[in-house]
Amino acid sequence: MTNLLPMAQKSFNFQVVKNPDPMPADKRQEFVDKPVFGTVFTDHMVDVCWSERGGWHRPRVQPYGPIPLDPAAAVLHYGQEIFEGMKAYRHQDGSIWTFRPDQNALRFQRSAVRMAMPELPTEYFIQSLKELIAVDGDWVPSLPETSLYLRPFMFAKEAFLGVRPAKKIAFYVIASPVGPYFGGDAAPVSIWLSTTYTRAGRGGTGAAKTGGNYAASLLAQTEAADNGCQQVLFLDSVEGKYIEELGGMNIVLVYKDGTLVTPDSDTILSGITRDSVLSLAADRGHAVERRPITIEEWRTGVDSGDIVEAFACGTAATVVPIGQLKAQDFTIGSPDAPAGTVTMALRQELIDIQFGKREDTHGWMLRLDQ
Ligand SMILES: Cc1ncc(COP(=O)(O)O)c(C=O)c1O
Repeated sequence: MTNLLPMAQKSFNFQVVKNPDPMPADKRQEFVDKPVFGTVFTDHMVDVCWSERGGWHRPRVQPYGPIPLDPAAAVLHYGQEIFEGMKAYRHQDGSIWTFRPDQNALRFQRSAVRMAMPELPTEYFIQSLKELIAVDGDWVPSLPETSLYLRPFMFAKEAFLGVRPAKKIAFYVIASPVGPYFGGDAAPVSIWLSTTYTRAGRGGTGAAKTGGNYAASLLAQTEAADNGCQQVLFLDSVEGKYIEELGGMNIVLVYKDGTLVTPDSDTILSGITRDSVLSLAADRGHAVERRPITIEEWRTGVDSGDIVEAFACGTAATVVPIGQLKAQDFTIGSPDAPAGTVTMALRQELIDIQFGKREDTHGWMLRLDQ
């Protein structure tokens, strides 16, 4: 689908409408110092329109608040929606940075194509983040492992009940101060193997970051919680034997010879954290394999001592050791298993790069506040 934007146009001319009633600074600081994931939002949001006739238009930053939506808006009926998840990090000198935003922009475009939506060009995606930080930069926390979560999203706002791609789309960016997703100490998490539900099917939307994938994961996630686990692990939907990914994170296994193995599947989200961590591992001399992995390989590998660590990774949680995998009829590992050394070393290296404490040799960081 064409985006109808003249490519010569280098940047949007954002209109900025300041919030007349922003949160008082002392109250804002309380939320920034003790953030609870995704509960409190900054004073502004980015709001851009797209229509089939006019392309991308009316870019603006405006006060955060309810979005007027026709009850017939296609997103409410057919779920034509995509989103991204990224973070703004405050460095020691006060500057504000983000991590590999070009990759999020590209994935947003791939998700858009799959969901029959217009592609937002990378430069506008990144500009919208900078515009939001320009007005809400004070919301970026500075305590260790805290950041401002950035949530770009786009949905079908055309009021029309026919089943076809919408001709009117809305793009927004909202932001929320956050701390570590699973609490502060990177303690190993327990995950639940869902054998009842799958997340995505062959040819489906598994590789797109679209709301329906998450809606489909919620019942399985509830089952995980009922079994004392923080996340659910899905298997492939065809044979039900290959591990895919968690509800909101990718998975990596570590062999005793130092090889890192992660599922290769076109029905999972291609995680930017996973890609980055595997690059860091390769830099350290680890072999890295992307290939199908059966649940049996994990079981027997742990039994034989060949598989020594497992971790989950994603923007929200960075890198988290997996202590145990629980299934209906077996358990791998234990909730008290110590965090693996490879896992923790990669976790620290990634966090240090994101917070500007280690040299960014890959050129992954982009400054947002200038
Ligand atoms: C289903 C799913 N898999 C994997 C990831 C990891 O992706 P990334 O590292 O780009 O955040 C996420 C999310 O953030 C996700 O929602």
